Amino acid sequence: MNEKVSALLNEQVNKEFYSAYLYLDMANFYTQKGLDGFANWYEIQAKEEQDHAMLMYQYLQNNGEKVTLEAIAKPDKNFETLMDPLTAGLEHERYVTSLINNIYAAAIEVNDYRTTQFLDWFIKEQGEEEKNSMDLITKMELFGDDARSLYMLNSELAARVYSAPSLTL
Ligand code: FEO
Repeated sequence: MNEKVSALLNEQVNKEFYSAYLYLDMANFYTQKGLDGFANWYEIQAKEEQDHAMLMYQYLQNNGEKVTLEAIAKPDKNFETLMDPLTAGLEHERYVTSLINNIYAAAIEVNDYRTTQFLDWFIKEQGEEEKNSMDLITKMELFGDDARSLYMLNSELAARVYSAPSLTL
């Protein structure tokens, strides 16, 4: 595999684990606020991020590349309002989209179509992740100020269940 593509994928393993850590911190925040449904939603989000990391880890290994596991950064976002994690989540997903796009561009540059095909799933996934984040913000804007509506929104988010990624390697 091209050295740059391999290094970027290796970095992305770390970034995905960081994403998991960040979302776990958001779940932690909502648990402290008594919103167990929001916490559930973000705990599942954290699990999905671990899946993303493991898919890249496995993809590198399947291609004979050495994976180096670096330190995972501390989640450093400061949450005060119930909206804060939601806007931070959208901002973070947009950042991750830019990272995936960068790896894709690097792979195209060296005609590494196996990697672009692998990344196609992530390109689509990022579209979903950004949409989910935007939908949560819209719902919070609409219903967040009313206690009864917030209770129902919390119940809706409590119903989210984890499912393993559809991508197999
Ligand atoms: Fe792994 Fe939320 O993107």
